[in-house]
Amino acid sequence: MSSDIEALLQEHRKFEPPEAFRAAAQPNDPGIYERAAADPEAYWAEQAAKLEWMTPYERVLDWKPPHAQWFVGGKLNVSVNCLDRHIRTARRNKAALVFEGEPGDKRTLTYWDLYVAVNQFGNVLRSLGVKKGDRVAIYLPMIPEAVIAMLGCARIGAIHSVVFGGFSPESLRDRINDSQCKVLITSDGGYRRGQVVPLKRNADKALEETPSIEHVVVVQRRPGITSGEAFDEIKEGRDHWWHRLMRHAPIWCEPETMDAEDILFVLYTSGTTGKPKGIVHTTAGYLVGAETSSRIVFDLKEDDVFWCTADVGWVTGHTYLAYGPLANGATCVMYEGAPDWPEKDRFWEICEKYGVTILYTAPTAIRAFMKWGAHWPAKHDLSRLRLLGSVGEPINPEAWMWYREHIGHNRCPIVDTWWQTETGSIVISPLPGITATTPGSATTPLPGYSASLLHADGTEIGVGGGLLALTRPWPSMLRTIWGDDERYVQTYFAKWKDRPDLYFPGDGAKRDEDGYFWILGRVDDVLNVAGHRIGTMEVESALVEHPAVAEAAVVGKAHDLKGQAIAAFVTLREGFKYDISLRDELRQFVGDKIGAIARPDDILFSADLPKTRSGKIMRRLLRDIAEGRALGDTTTLADPNVVNSLKEMYESQES
Ligand code: PRX
Repeated sequence: MSSDIEALLQEHRKFEPPEAFRAAAQPNDPGIYERAAADPEAYWAEQAAKLEWMTPYERVLDWKPPHAQWFVGGKLNVSVNCLDRHIRTARRNKAALVFEGEPGDKRTLTYWDLYVAVNQFGNVLRSLGVKKGDRVAIYLPMIPEAVIAMLGCARIGAIHSVVFGGFSPESLRDRINDSQCKVLITSDGGYRRGQVVPLKRNADKALEETPSIEHVVVVQRRPGITSGEAFDEIKEGRDHWWHRLMRHAPIWCEPETMDAEDILFVLYTSGTTGKPKGIVHTTAGYLVGAETSSRIVFDLKEDDVFWCTADVGWVTGHTYLAYGPLANGATCVMYEGAPDWPEKDRFWEICEKYGVTILYTAPTAIRAFMKWGAHWPAKHDLSRLRLLGSVGEPINPEAWMWYREHIGHNRCPIVDTWWQTETGSIVISPLPGITATTPGSATTPLPGYSASLLHADGTEIGVGGGLLALTRPWPSMLRTIWGDDERYVQTYFAKWKDRPDLYFPGDGAKRDEDGYFWILGRVDDVLNVAGHRIGTMEVESALVEHPAVAEAAVVGKAHDLKGQAIAAFVTLREGFKYDISLRDELRQFVGDKIGAIARPDDILFSADLPKTRSGKIMRRLLRDIAEGRALGDTTTLADPNVVNSLKEMYESQES
């Protein structure tokens, strides 16, 4: 970590908000930070007042570390806040979702259209026997039905669990089983780089071992996708076409009265064990976090066209494609496919065509755009853009400057937003009308939040590097891990002894003289590959399921585009021999087990792995090897020769 800190310390460029932007921005008074810090509960009460409540809450916060309840006693419905209150105003005919499919098909849903569809889908779910508190799995491409399904669940109080469409049948199966979903919503396919992703076929494989699923609703993505190409059959009684169910569904669906602390959704994310964690978010706190951050970080105005490029399968898609902007009555662009299909200017074509004013994307994408060249965005009129955002991984200053120059034309502020599935909404980020930004820094916690940098022993660090901690509860924080509250306590609130009130996100960071935070990345065994969280243990568990593999150790290595890539060290069982085809088979095997995002870039076969005398694999040394560095301290190894021969092998296999 120390070399990263030194590199970042060289960065002194500062960009003040442009005057015209500042003057019109909401908020633009720096006093907001002090006011919020002086009385955080009053600040959050002010934000909560922007929502429509069925019953007012009695208390803002009930904090019994590490468990929080927000807006205690309040009742509300998320879909009413995202839809009903807009259709009572002139927003009724405003575009809510502007969708473009990868093949070029387009659909615009006004707030009225979305309201009708969500009501109907709520009724569809009820007709399938779904009740408040039941779990519904959503495994869809990036199409409007994903948002309709989420809001339809929210309308009737069902808990959705969205599973990213790139995950494998096994990953889908495990997530369905962990939270015992009753209904699965999927599609006959989705488009990615001109290919059909066979979601229904994957779902059918998963469904062989998901006894809790009673019904499957299948969206017909395009009539052009034929059975055989993307799915085998529609199973009588269990499977239903979405459009057939919707055709007869009434368009008024009574919204369920939800308690502030009723669960809105579960979203699975990787941790340090082989089993993903079902992160639990509740109704009021989550919506307050999503609504507030969308409004103040993106300075959302009535005529903005907001494009968050994240998939709804990740938390960014939940909070900033669906709930946050819709609660604000904003227009959201939704794009199904790849940024380089059919050409490398697809994003810029979309920005131009729909007049996107705010673009929110990931550093991995920005680095790819950089590599493809500035002539691609230069072909398009990007003059309507006024604000740019970045999320998901540390953005290197070079990519930040490229984004500013070639996409923002040195005119648009950039908000580098740090947060997590667990935090529910943005925590550390500039406010674009207030904060002077620096390339590579997410700057400071938003009003109402409080972060600190700590040593492992809990002492505080002023300027320098350490472990990031959030020191005050916030409305959109996770409430628990589905079915495993003890894991919640141990993972997030047990890092510092005697301080069960400190939240540990698992990230290392540095703070500079201005008090700005620079997020350096995970300090646990979780990788961030192209902005996607993958636990090393998940990949290791997948590898050792292959009959040839005796033992596996997985580490991250720096990668120019993806931030991190996966390197696996594998020892083989007796009787198996290394060759290129086994390497390719193992890569594919992991891809099939978890999903293509978890496929290792490198696999090194070795007779042994470096271990301490107590038998622990020394990942630190494996990282040194994978990144081609001089080996660190090897004195605690049981057999120091192992690591030297590994290093030689790795270098020879690479060349
Ligand atoms: O390591 C941090 C990194 O992504 C992790 C959270 O991943 P996930 O739960 O999948 O959510 C991603 C989208 C919110 C964090 O622990 N991360 C996220 N945003 C940033 C970041 N690292 C640096 N800078 C960011 N802006």
